[in-house]
Amino acid sequence: MRMKILVTGGAGFIGSNFVRHIYRERPDWHITVIDALTYAGSEHNLDGLDKERLAFVKGNICDEELIDQLVGENDAVVHFAAESHNDNSLHTPWPFVETNVVGTFRILEAVRKHQKRLHHISTDEVYGDLELDDPNKFSETTSYNPSSPYSSTKAGSDMLVRAWVRSFGVQATISNCSNNYGPYQHVEKFIPRQVTEVLEGRRPKLYGSGENVRDWIHTEDHSSAVLAILEKGTIGETYMIGANGEKNNKEVVELILEIMGKDKTDYEHVNDRPGHDLRYAIDATKIRNELGWLPKYTDFKTGLTDTITWYRDNEAWWKPQKAETEAKYKELGR
Ligand code: NAD
Ligand code: DAU
Repeated sequence: MRMKILVTGGAGFIGSNFVRHIYRERPDWHITVIDALTYAGSEHNLDGLDKERLAFVKGNICDEELIDQLVGENDAVVHFAAESHNDNSLHTPWPFVETNVVGTFRILEAVRKHQKRLHHISTDEVYGDLELDDPNKFSETTSYNPSSPYSSTKAGSDMLVRAWVRSFGVQATISNCSNNYGPYQHVEKFIPRQVTEVLEGRRPKLYGSGENVRDWIHTEDHSSAVLAILEKGTIGETYMIGANGEKNNKEVVELILEIMGKDKTDYEHVNDRPGHDLRYAIDATKIRNELGWLPKYTDFKTGLTDTITWYRDNEAWWKPQKAETEAKYKELGR
């Protein structure tokens, strides 16, 4: 079916990769991106895509009138727009409450009024964290237990979506994905920060002991999972997205150093993040069994090598963000 799809936050890291994914995989769809172009978004992330098939609107998801109009003009909404960085949320929480909670409320009211399909993008962080030796992973039935202002606002947005489904019959699905990596990720995030530190001749920076575990997934696999849910998912359901990519932060830094031809011990320990979640791990059985989705980028070393190559080749993309980002970290002793 030919679709007109509205992608919020489509100029950010995962949103722009998703736009490229559906641009390639669904050539008859029309895509409209709405993005406020905060420090984390750039229209250049969508460079090279044909304007006939992709419309870009610079705007805020909290803008009731604009959202009402754009939702009314499209068949479905995929909602990525968010303030996304934990460290920023610990420093300045308000934009997280505004965009992640109030913004999601605006989207929900518009899809309710116009009776449009919504897929809401969320995170595994809403479930809190796991012990290193816990045999259980996060699943769709795990209780919510968020730790940071970021994850609590994402949890709040998920709760709004669930309530709008139950109370108003909104046609929505939710996905909770683990840590993404790949091209176009802001240099404030762990992997791009370490890669660009090395490229600028400095040492990677590990928070605390570096034993914290993240469950890495390539952003292309996140995109294919979201497309599967949008097309085949059951309304009202939540789907975990993950690719069995558990690694501790020290292992990731060592691998980056190895791939970049440096000594594996050439990193430094910096101040830990307050309330730092210890471990995330995803059980993705439901999406695999019910929707037949499988990740393709399962070799982390290959995916990481490609990502490092992308940052090496695209210095002009990340360089303008780098000094300001490091200045912020310096203030925090990180
Ligand atoms: P990002 O920070 O790279 O991009 C967010 C985008 O949203 C930016 O383009 C920004 O300009 C835009 N935006 C922010 N506030 C807005 C507003 N008020 N109105 C309109 N646009 C606004 O984030 P990301 O890492 O690409 O994350 C995208 C989504 O995926 C978020 O909902 C995040 O919670 C979720 N998620 C991220 C990860 C991850 O590993 N990065 C994992 C799971 C889920
Ligand atoms: O799990 C999904 C979440 O993953 C998403 O919801 C978030 O939007 C996304 O930012 C990410 O959150 P994290 O806090 O896990 O990602 P971040 O890249 O900030 O950090 C990953 C790990 O690396 C974490 O344990 C903190 C650590 N870290 C981070 C930075 C920036 C370091 O050790 N050194 C660093 O310099």
